[in-house]
Amino acid sequence: MEKEFSQLKPGYRLLLGPGPVDTSPRVLRAMSANVLGHLDHQFLEIMNETMDLLRKVFQTKNKLTLPMSGTGSAGMEAVMVNLIEPGDRAIVCVNGVFGQRMRDIAERCGAHVYSVEVPFGQPIDPDHVKEVAEKAGKIKLISVVHAETSTGVLQPLPELSEIAKQYDALFVVDAVTSLAGIDLKVDDWGIDACYSGTQKALSCPPGLSPVTFSSRAAEAIAKRKSKVRSWYLDLSMIGDYWGKERVYHHTAPINMIYGLREALQIVLEEGLEERFARHKLNSEAFIRGIEAMGLNMIAPEGYRTPTLNAVRIPEGVEDIGVRNYLLDKYGIEIGGGLGDFKGKAWRVGLMGESSRKNNVILLLAALADSMEQQGHKVDVGASIQAAFDVYNS
Ligand SMILES: Cc1ncc(COP(=O)(O)O)c(C=O)c1O
Repeated sequence: MEKEFSQLKPGYRLLLGPGPVDTSPRVLRAMSANVLGHLDHQFLEIMNETMDLLRKVFQTKNKLTLPMSGTGSAGMEAVMVNLIEPGDRAIVCVNGVFGQRMRDIAERCGAHVYSVEVPFGQPIDPDHVKEVAEKAGKIKLISVVHAETSTGVLQPLPELSEIAKQYDALFVVDAVTSLAGIDLKVDDWGIDACYSGTQKALSCPPGLSPVTFSSRAAEAIAKRKSKVRSWYLDLSMIGDYWGKERVYHHTAPINMIYGLREALQIVLEEGLEERFARHKLNSEAFIRGIEAMGLNMIAPEGYRTPTLNAVRIPEGVEDIGVRNYLLDKYGIEIGGGLGDFKGKAWRVGLMGESSRKNNVILLLAALADSMEQQGHKVDVGASIQAAFDVYNS
């Protein structure tokens, strides 16, 4: 007999993992509006507004600023495939899974890649990048992940940007886990190409990858000697659709763009500074609560990204058991470790709508309960008190 399908009804979840994170009902409502044609003048105006809002959130005046169709990896690939021509030299900083992905993509684009690699969980040392740049000869770009989602390491950017300028290279930044949650000044920090994703601190479902390119980067694309090795991600054609020409390239994901526009508006209504401060406060409270339980963070102090908090799993506690317990008993999703930290870390996303005091307190209590189920007793009272102390100080 044919299987009968019931109406789709996903169960409730509190999304405190590496993304997607909780979405505002306003965004979901915007996404359920009627579909417009992708060349309808009303939709063209929505596109213009979305680009303007994106510029504000990226803190840039870059003309070439738009959402690519596809998730964060599409943005990563778009940046690399448009900027790199076969044979170009590229320095890729690698301190986690997403740095590794960048390197892989740069190699696939035909670049000669120089890796600046440090163990997972460590930040990149700018002196190391400088040493490599000094030996590499003419380099096309230097790329780095701002907030490494696999480890929770936050990479300071201005010094690396200086080095890129010194060696006349384009400075490329992955801001998938930082945009709209951590300060990211594209223009002031001299970032030439930057991409993000909608499902993290922008608090929108996954599906688009906002990108921005400086005039230097746009010029590098315009001066290419060879065709971009991806038809779908070729910015010269996509730019013609998002620009004045409005030439059809591919059918824009209309309702995703409605959602992004609404999400960006919510970000700006809150205010960038206020939003960054909220992310910092909730992360600090969570970290103090974790430490008061006797657990440790993966990233060293001073290099922790407030959006993604990676906690070292204590000896004797089994990763999957805790995550399943959180999901089954509390409806809470957190992430497991990636790459070198598989089975060794929990990744707690406190981003966008998910970055809230009630979520922090609930998660600390639920984590303590889950560990206790495995015989690992922690002082839950001290943990909650430590978080309260941060909120009350
Ligand atoms: C830092 C970083 N870069 C790139 C990506 C890839 O994004 P997506 O999974 O949306 O393709 C992610 C996803 O988690 C990420 O965290």
